[in-house]
Amino acid sequence: METQIVTIEKADAPAYIDEKLERAGACIRQGGLVAFPTETVYGLGGDALNPESSRKIYAAKGRPSDNPLIVHIADLGHLDSIVSEIPEHARKLADAFWPGPLTMIFRKSELVPRQTTGGLDTVAVRMPSHPLANRFIEKAGGYVAAPSANLSGKPSPTTAKYVIQDMMGRIDMIIDADGVEIGLESTIVDVTGDVPMILRPGYITQEMLSKVVGETDMDVTIFDSSSTQAPKAPGMKYRHYAPKGELVIVEGEPADVVRYINEQTSLHEQKGEKTGVIGTQELIEKYHADSIKNAGNKDDSASVARQLYTFLREFDDEGIEYMYTQSFADAFADKGIGQAIMNRLLKAAGHRVIKV
Ligand code: TXA
Ligand code: MG
Repeated sequence: METQIVTIEKADAPAYIDEKLERAGACIRQGGLVAFPTETVYGLGGDALNPESSRKIYAAKGRPSDNPLIVHIADLGHLDSIVSEIPEHARKLADAFWPGPLTMIFRKSELVPRQTTGGLDTVAVRMPSHPLANRFIEKAGGYVAAPSANLSGKPSPTTAKYVIQDMMGRIDMIIDADGVEIGLESTIVDVTGDVPMILRPGYITQEMLSKVVGETDMDVTIFDSSSTQAPKAPGMKYRHYAPKGELVIVEGEPADVVRYINEQTSLHEQKGEKTGVIGTQELIEKYHADSIKNAGNKDDSASVARQLYTFLREFDDEGIEYMYTQSFADAFADKGIGQAIMNRLLKAAGHRVIKV
């Protein structure tokens, strides 16, 4: 299959952008697949109401078809037709956080095919805030099913470069544009129960949600690798976000962390193995490794979030076999997007954490 790359620049004339989005929308309406930017990560879109489109999405990603897709809408009025009920707390959350990086799980209506929901009676819905995403969804007919636009098992793409690396020849079109600012996938909240339950942490934190609806819960499996329960979001059971090499999270006093990581990298070096380190600005000069990634100031969790998946992808491209990262647990795990960062890092590291 030939994949068209459509580049949109901020300075492009509105009519020119409109024409490109119109073509992308038409492609979806005709059953094609289009990758597009959102404020979190790139999505791989297809018509959410067309079972054949959903089948194609699973095939393009190499994703197990029991892992449901998120339906993206651009207009709150479109929610009614795809869900069978809108609980009061969901209305409040939609008012507060849509458009934005929040996905809610509802009971689905007849209109949504089971191919889109991985066989479930529930449907995940999100209204993104990226302006191009919104206009594209409108032109696509209003309901775009989109997982992250990576091959299954790879980190979600935050730039078009990595969408192209994974999806070239597998989908019809890739929209290449700026504005993927958050860098980690949306917060997922199940709103079907009495108390909204967080299934995946993201930019919208538990604290922010609780301010709007009072009590909220969190799926116990999110941070507990030893839990025998299946996660409530089917996708969270897979070893996602994984780089090719082995990643280890190192926790402790800064001086101890630096000493441990440097000991490890020099041992690998002696064996001719390639090493990588992710560190914060304050410590970055102290590390020795083949590839060193500066995650920014230790208090700047947004900077870490924005760059994390790019670092993991770059390590892959550079052939790095052993990677070490400072833990961000002390710095900001319980603040803002910090919890989402640690959740994704733990998965990428297969829960390998060393306390020094
Ligand atoms: O930020 C995002 O959410 C991005 C952008 C493109 O919007 N999308 C994204 O999609 O991360 P994906 O498919 O990579 O992750 C969707 C997650 C999976 O873990 C899936 O299992 C879960 O949402 N999910 C989808 N529908 C669900 C449902 N009905 N019940 C429980 N979990 C659901
Ligand atoms: Mg994904």
